[in-house]
Amino acid sequence: MIKKLENGFILNTKNTTYAFRVLKTGHLEHLYYGKKIAIENMEPLIEQHNFMPGNTVAYNQETMEYSLENMRLEMSSYGKGDVREPFVEVVKSDGSFTNDFTYADSEISWGKQPFETLPGSYDEDGNVDHLTVTLKDNDLVMELHYYVYENCDVITRTTVLINKGKEKVNIKRLMSMQLDMFGMNYVMTTFNGSWANEMNRHDTKVAAGRFTNYSYAGTSSNRANPFVMISREETTEDFGECIGTNLIYSGNHYEAMDVCSFNKTRFVSGINPQSMSYGLLPGEKFEAPESVLTYSKKGYNGMSQNMHKFVREHIVRGKWKYKERPVLLNSWEANYFDITEEKLINLAKAGKDIGIELFVMDDGWFGKRNNDKSSLGDWFVNTDKLPGSLKGLSEKVDKLGMSFGLWVEPEMISEDSDLFRKHPDWAFRIQGREMHEGRNQYVLDMGRDDVVAYLTDVFTAVLGSADIKYIKWDMNRNISDANSAALPPNRQGEVMHRYILGVYKLMENLVSTFPNILFEGCSGGGGRFDAGMLYYSPQIWCSDNTDAMNRLDIQYGTSFFYPISSVGAHVSACPNHQTGRSVPLSTRADVALAGRFGYELDLRLLSDEEKAQVKEQIKEFHDYYDLTHEGDYYRLTERDNTSFTAWEFVAKNKERALVEVVKKDAWGNPLPVHVTIKGLEDNSMYVCSLNGIKRSGKTWNHAGITLPKFLSAGESMKFTLTKA
Ligand code: DGJ
Repeated sequence: MIKKLENGFILNTKNTTYAFRVLKTGHLEHLYYGKKIAIENMEPLIEQHNFMPGNTVAYNQETMEYSLENMRLEMSSYGKGDVREPFVEVVKSDGSFTNDFTYADSEISWGKQPFETLPGSYDEDGNVDHLTVTLKDNDLVMELHYYVYENCDVITRTTVLINKGKEKVNIKRLMSMQLDMFGMNYVMTTFNGSWANEMNRHDTKVAAGRFTNYSYAGTSSNRANPFVMISREETTEDFGECIGTNLIYSGNHYEAMDVCSFNKTRFVSGINPQSMSYGLLPGEKFEAPESVLTYSKKGYNGMSQNMHKFVREHIVRGKWKYKERPVLLNSWEANYFDITEEKLINLAKAGKDIGIELFVMDDGWFGKRNNDKSSLGDWFVNTDKLPGSLKGLSEKVDKLGMSFGLWVEPEMISEDSDLFRKHPDWAFRIQGREMHEGRNQYVLDMGRDDVVAYLTDVFTAVLGSADIKYIKWDMNRNISDANSAALPPNRQGEVMHRYILGVYKLMENLVSTFPNILFEGCSGGGGRFDAGMLYYSPQIWCSDNTDAMNRLDIQYGTSFFYPISSVGAHVSACPNHQTGRSVPLSTRADVALAGRFGYELDLRLLSDEEKAQVKEQIKEFHDYYDLTHEGDYYRLTERDNTSFTAWEFVAKNKERALVEVVKKDAWGNPLPVHVTIKGLEDNSMYVCSLNGIKRSGKTWNHAGITLPKFLSAGESMKFTLTKA
């Protein structure tokens, strides 16, 4: 709910309060974000500003009352005394880069309109409360939008800048969120990594200066996810304050924590301003991506549960939002590029025999693509490999009783492709200078309307040419040589943002034309695992690393923001292709069960005993679907537990819970594994599937359980607790 008081605004969710006020000068002072409090007026929250510390700049010369450097602000700019990380920087036509936005107007309304250019959260019931605060700096108008998702304890923010003047201005930065807090020594948790090594959690206590988390790769990247947590050193999985923030954006992003000299900390999040210079002509407007904010005093788990609910209900769209998604078999680690119709059908048959529901043909089906050196851009079926084309293959798969899916990589172009020979200027390149490949390919200039129109036509034809039920949308390299032949020299600072807008346009075109297709995002695994992509594809392949033990850590990191129903996870062969390690088939399946479950190996090579095991795993997947995809997810182990990892799903109706444990290390004289249990109803009785013992939820929740057997390294165990 949003309340407007005489001089400010209060935004309440079920368990949180967010408050700010308008100062006499017209600046917006942030007052509070945290546990829900009852406020009738702003007085108790107001910080006294009755003197100007040291050499700071006085904003109000008459009263010498305010130094913007010493204020908590809803948005800030450089040049009027605030020397901290700015929210906005716009270069005016006279070359000045001092901005000063002050209050003009506000409005409270209901419901949420979609963005014109970007993905964003949505609310089908029109229940979301919406506050628009309009600020002005001469001819520049800035709208700060706040949306309150009461039941998820989420507030989202976005910024729109409109040029009402007669001259062009250049946006150097426009953030989506700013959160100014009292005190310092906040812990900023970021999730960093690289290809096949995504989502490593890092906790950094920021005592002074500035700490940043960013991507400059062209995608949200596996280097640094836009999801960030702000907590205290004492915060644990279940206790303590935790703020979670994310950006619904898939391009270069930036999050910074800046500690000032006056016992205050600022956090900002938005498009990465590095190399950005976006021209805004008279009458034009610029939308900054939506940022998501949640707070929990129930530690990281509490924060994650808010975010999971929000993503599932207000970001993921379409038919597959609630519909049970099929168990898939992907051809990549079974065949790589070595595919023919015969080989694929043999693999699919093996899948059918053990319960696979969706067969996915990965890379290698088009142009003359026998390796990764050619043909991206030539999206025409290689009929030497697939004589019956996609239609013939899909019909054969259909006859086997499975649906059929396909891999594509629309944003890329190979030098050795007809498309590149015809349109070399469609790739990012700087005229007269050498181009640089990544995974032997160039990047298409997705900011060009003609490129998006061409790709829309080509993929509409491909997707419509057969009964295709699933698409894996890949993107395998970072962007370099970002320069568009379609833009003049003074607009090249727009290229990176325009790229991602073009990607969104293409995805929207295809998703709306093919609403029944299940899309899965991918970027060499988790190179673009973000909330923007989840608006188009309800699931994302989270890593090219399929080693179950590595996946424990990758999926652990991913789980802090992203719901389990969005995390692509497959059982693959052993020794594992990325690490050479072997772990039991049961462990591989148990780890994949904490994700969008599927298989990616040559099932024909399994022994009869293993095939029977896989059949059983698929049955279990169906049996636990309501828990893993709709239930509440709890991490049961703290990050310093290097001995084992455990997690739990509790059904929405609390009727049962599934606990999974994987032992990581092995020692002589081993210690027993003791697992905590969470989220059961205190006053109901639950029976444990391990030993038939019946206890109250309260007892399980507090006493946990000691596993009845020692686990060796790499071994897993799972059990249920069911209401008696
Ligand atoms: C990278 C993906 O992450 C893999 O799963 C596979 O689809 C390859 N690309 C195909 O080139």
